[in-house]
Amino acid sequence: MERTLTILKPDCVRKQLIGAVIDKIERAGFRVVAMKKTRLTKETAGEFYAVHRERPFYGELVEFMSSGPCVPMILEKANAVADFRTVIGATDPAQADEGTIRKLYADSKGENIIHGSDSVENAAIEASFFFAAEEVVRSN
Ligand code: RTP
Ligand code: MG
Repeated sequence: MERTLTILKPDCVRKQLIGAVIDKIERAGFRVVAMKKTRLTKETAGEFYAVHRERPFYGELVEFMSSGPCVPMILEKANAVADFRTVIGATDPAQADEGTIRKLYADSKGENIIHGSDSVENAAIEASFFFAAEEVVRSN
């Protein structure tokens, strides 16, 4: 069993799509093992996406990710990291496959509804960014 970290981004919360997106995630076979609603500050959003610090879109990304509440979750499934990237689709919704979460719900490459970890190693780092050990409850 593998774990990945997702965030329903501020645009997802604003558009009242939390339930619709979690429905897609559960129907794809993922178990929610941790979940909360929170709001990143510019500082914590900048830290979470620090790998993109030098990219031209970094300032916009930090503004967007701190613009309202978000819903981070830890998800569990065999091959969770790679399979979840398939479920969410390409970064730019215009490039995303039909039926993916970003294709269905996202407006733009910047405001693209949802985050998914890009490796097992980063999933563990990102999970501990949002959740204490006692907030993570294994599913049956
Ligand atoms: P994420 O980390 O959020 O799951 O997205 P990703 O792997 O598909 O894409 P990544 O390259 O890691 O970019 C992180 C987030 O930065 C914003 N972005 N904007 N305007 C742009 O050209 C641009 N490129 C990236 C998006 O919110 C993207 O998800
Ligand atoms: Mg990424």
